[in-house]
Amino acid sequence: MYNIDPNSKKPIYLQLYEEIKKDIQTNLKAGEKLPSIRKMTTDYKISKNTVQTAYNQLFAEGYIESIPQSGYFVSENLYDSFKKEKEVDLENKTLDDIVKYDFYPACLSADTFPKKTWLRLYNKVLKSSLNLGVYHNNQGDIELREQIVKYLKSSRSVNCTIENIVLTSGFADSMFIVSKILKDEIKKIAFETPSYRVAKKVFEQHNFEIEEIEVQQNGINLKQLKKSKAKLLYLTPSHQYFFGVTTPIANRIEIINWAKENNSYIIEDDYDSELSYNNKPIPAMQGINNNTQVIYTGTFSKSLSPSLRIAYLVLPVKLLEKYKKEFDYPFSNIPIDIQKTLALFIKEGFWDRHLRKVRTQNKKKHDILKEELLNTMGKDIKILKEGSGLNILIKSMVNIDLLKFQEECRKNYIKIYLREISKEQTVLSMGFGGFKEEELKKAIKIFNSLWQKEKRDKNIKD
Ligand SMILES: Cc1ncc(COP(=O)(O)O)c(C=O)c1O
Repeated sequence: MYNIDPNSKKPIYLQLYEEIKKDIQTNLKAGEKLPSIRKMTTDYKISKNTVQTAYNQLFAEGYIESIPQSGYFVSENLYDSFKKEKEVDLENKTLDDIVKYDFYPACLSADTFPKKTWLRLYNKVLKSSLNLGVYHNNQGDIELREQIVKYLKSSRSVNCTIENIVLTSGFADSMFIVSKILKDEIKKIAFETPSYRVAKKVFEQHNFEIEEIEVQQNGINLKQLKKSKAKLLYLTPSHQYFFGVTTPIANRIEIINWAKENNSYIIEDDYDSELSYNNKPIPAMQGINNNTQVIYTGTFSKSLSPSLRIAYLVLPVKLLEKYKKEFDYPFSNIPIDIQKTLALFIKEGFWDRHLRKVRTQNKKKHDILKEELLNTMGKDIKILKEGSGLNILIKSMVNIDLLKFQEECRKNYIKIYLREISKEQTVLSMGFGGFKEEELKKAIKIFNSLWQKEKRDKNIKD
C-alpha cells in the first residue's frame, strides 16, 4: 500500500506520484502493470482526477507508458528516462502540454546535432582573435560565405560567389528581404499550391497579390503559369514542399524561359535537397540559368538544426545593388560566434560527414515509418509523399473522422498534424525526424491501435 496522508499540506496527487515513483525506482519491473485508475480510487478513497494527475505526471516524465484500452505500465526505457527526463513543473501542467510522441513534420531528434564537435569548434572560435566588441558584416561573415559558395557549387551546381550570398536568420527573413527589394517593381506573385505557409504569409504581409498554381506529377501546371500575370514565382523544384515531386529538367527549362520572356523572377526554395533517400538530388535550377532570373534560397534547418536559425539567399547580380541600398545596416542579424563556428564546421570537413550521418539516420527512420504504416494499416492508407525530407504524407482510404482521431491521439499524448489539400481533402503529415528509432516504432504502434479503435467505433470493416 502507498503511504497517503490526507492531513498533509502536500497535495494528494503529489504524494501518490512520489510514492509510485519510489516504487518504480526500487521495486517494480519494466513492463509491470499499474493498478487501474478505478482501483486506485476505491483503494485510497481519492478522486479519479487525483489519480489521473499523478499518472499523467509519471507518464510525462517517462516512468510509465500508456497503452490505449490496456492501462498504464512501467516504462521499458526506464533507465534512459531516469537519466534524461527532467522533473516537470506539476502545478502548471495540463493534458495539452504533455506530448509523448510528436509527429511534427519538420524536426530532427535531439541526438542529431553534433554537440561535441560544435563545442570544440566554438571554443576554438572564442579563443581566436575574433573581436566581439564590434558589429559584423551585414551580408554575413565572409569565411562562412566562402564555405557556403564551395558547398553550393559542388553539391547543388549553384552559380555564385561570396558577393551574391546573403546570410539570413531563417527562411522568413530571406523572404522578407526578397519581398522588400521587389515590392516596387512587382505586384503579383504566383505560388505552387499547396505551398509552404510561411512563404505566402510574408508576401501577403507586403501586400503582394497571390496567384495559386496547381502542382501536378511533374511540378507546377505550366499552362496555368503561362496564363498568369505574375512577375515572381515561388517554387520548391527539387522536392515539392507538399507532395515531394521533382520538377524534371524539361519543365525547369520551360519555367526559366517563361521567366526570361516575361522579365520575371523565380524563387527557388531548395530547403531539403540534402535529404534525398532514393536518388541523388538533381542540380538546382539556379545553375541552369546562369544566375539571372533565379533567386536561390537554402537553409541549415533541415540537416543541421532548426534552432540555430541560419539560412541564406543567392541573389541574381541585378538584385544585389537593390539589396545593398535597401539593407545598408552596419550589422548582421546572426550572432558572429555561431557564424564563425559554422564556417569552421564546414571548412574542417564535419559538414560533409554530418550530412552523410543525417541522411543515413533519417532514411532508416523514413523506412521504419513507411514499412510500419503499411504493415499495420495496409489498405487503410495511401502514401502520397515519401522518399525525402523529414515526413511522409498519407491519405486515409477509410471514412474516418480525422479531427476526432486527432483529438483521440491528443488524449493519448500523441500529436499528429492534419493538412488541408483542398476543401474536400485533408491528409496526415507524419514527421519521423524528431524520433529515435525505437520510439518511432512504439509511437506507430499506439497510433495504429487508436486508428483501429476509431474504425471499430464507426463499424468500418477491414
Ligand atoms: C518549404 C520550406 N522552406 C524553408 C524552410 C526552412 O525554414 P527556416 O530556414 O526558417 O527554418 C522550411 C521549414 O520547414 C520549409 O518547409
